[in-house]
Amino acid sequence: MSTSLRERAGGAVRPMLYCKSVEGLRREADAGTLRRALGPIQLTTLGVGAIIGAGIFVLTGQAAAQYAGPAIVLSFVISGFACAMAGLCYAEFASMIPVAGSAYTYAYATLGELLAWIIGWDLILEYSLGAATVAVGWSGYVVSFLRDVGIVIPAQLTAPLGAAIPGTAATGLFNFPAAVIVLLVTGLLVVGIRESARTNAAIVIVKIAVVLMFIGFGAAYINQANWVPLIPENTGEFGHFGWSGVLRGAGVIFFAYIGFDAVSVAAQEARNPQKDMPFGIMASLLICTILYIAVALVLTGIVPFTSLNVADPMAVGIDATGLFWLRPFVKLGAIAGLTSVVLVMLLAQPRIFYAMSRDGLLPPVFSRVHERFRTPYITTLVTGAVVAVVAGLLPIAVLGELVSIGTLLAFVLVCLGILVLRRTRPNLERPFRTPFVPLVPILGALACFIQMAGLPWPTWERLLVWLAIGMVIYFGYGRRNAAQMRARQEVTPS
Ligand code: ALA
Repeated sequence: MSTSLRERAGGAVRPMLYCKSVEGLRREADAGTLRRALGPIQLTTLGVGAIIGAGIFVLTGQAAAQYAGPAIVLSFVISGFACAMAGLCYAEFASMIPVAGSAYTYAYATLGELLAWIIGWDLILEYSLGAATVAVGWSGYVVSFLRDVGIVIPAQLTAPLGAAIPGTAATGLFNFPAAVIVLLVTGLLVVGIRESARTNAAIVIVKIAVVLMFIGFGAAYINQANWVPLIPENTGEFGHFGWSGVLRGAGVIFFAYIGFDAVSVAAQEARNPQKDMPFGIMASLLICTILYIAVALVLTGIVPFTSLNVADPMAVGIDATGLFWLRPFVKLGAIAGLTSVVLVMLLAQPRIFYAMSRDGLLPPVFSRVHERFRTPYITTLVTGAVVAVVAGLLPIAVLGELVSIGTLLAFVLVCLGILVLRRTRPNLERPFRTPFVPLVPILGALACFIQMAGLPWPTWERLLVWLAIGMVIYFGYGRRNAAQMRARQEVTPS
């Protein structure tokens, strides 16, 4: 930082551990102009809308086939437990700091700039790569649906780069449908979509209806022999069946639960955030856990788990029942549901960039808003372009696992954040208190960490490289720039 700035700031800059005050953020929330229109049911709907996606429609089948077998049901229990514990911690933060935000905002207010940066950087994995993952899932169902109506897209143009195309010597080039959906949604977001609660509710109803139809009709075709053995014997390699496979399965299908934090993003639009947000988070988690366990039981009950390593596992399940009339419903429902998740994720990412840029951790261009559309158009376009390329080139397993490990790390930090804050700010008003502290945050952090530990080493390597790049940007730019920005704000009274 330059001397002149330090002088102008009267030496008031605190470059090491800067925290925004919780009180300041609350004042921001009270001064907000967003309409407080959402009640507990709408918040729960929002959560369910953001949660149900590629996790259940695609990854469940693939994780059962490769890692856990029918015991994927146990993986869902482990993962659901971790999310419930982390959800209770999220709820305390969300009620305490009811601004439109995310784990990044909570961390900035409570844990300091460095941890906030790590969480924000990590959330890029959750939202950007999450959108890419779901787009690849979307592509799988669209290609499958088009094939049913006689339109066949060459396999090389629907597979990631270098992927083997079964039955041929060819390899994939680029997953075009995945890139196309990302670009279409990006276009919508730039123009500014009024995501009315009604549209979201309609998609949620379609999604839940499809999942319930699958469970209801599929249950009649369960062959219990497919569940035996529940935990297939380990192949000798960690993570491939046996208990280590259950754990790895949990790490992979953790992806299916991601999104409940979307409820906290709507904090400023909640009628009674203190009570309704914890309700929305926990209720949407509970509904999804029950649906997921039921889908996993039915799917692994109607077909041998070994046949589920495909782009559209639920369709494979339906085919096995012979209920062919159900196929278009399930596929179209999956396509609609996956579209809404891509939209929510691509909507969230530029807004997190916006918050990070306003704090000075990213360059000002990240918070530029379009004059007419009032949307963060530059980041929306850049995010869309990058996500489209990534979705076109990489396989869903690589993407999904990276999203899981990154988000699990953010959850570990959120759980630990509750412990830190209870100690450093014991008297802060907490409209919702995480129960059984320190037990719940410790169990949450442990359960998330154990799932991280179950993920393959190459996924860890990718996470470490990502974090290292983040550190270079923070120490090379963000830290200094944020300090300069605060210095400027302190000399210009607002
Ligand atoms: N939970 C979301 C999904 O499964 C991210 O697609």
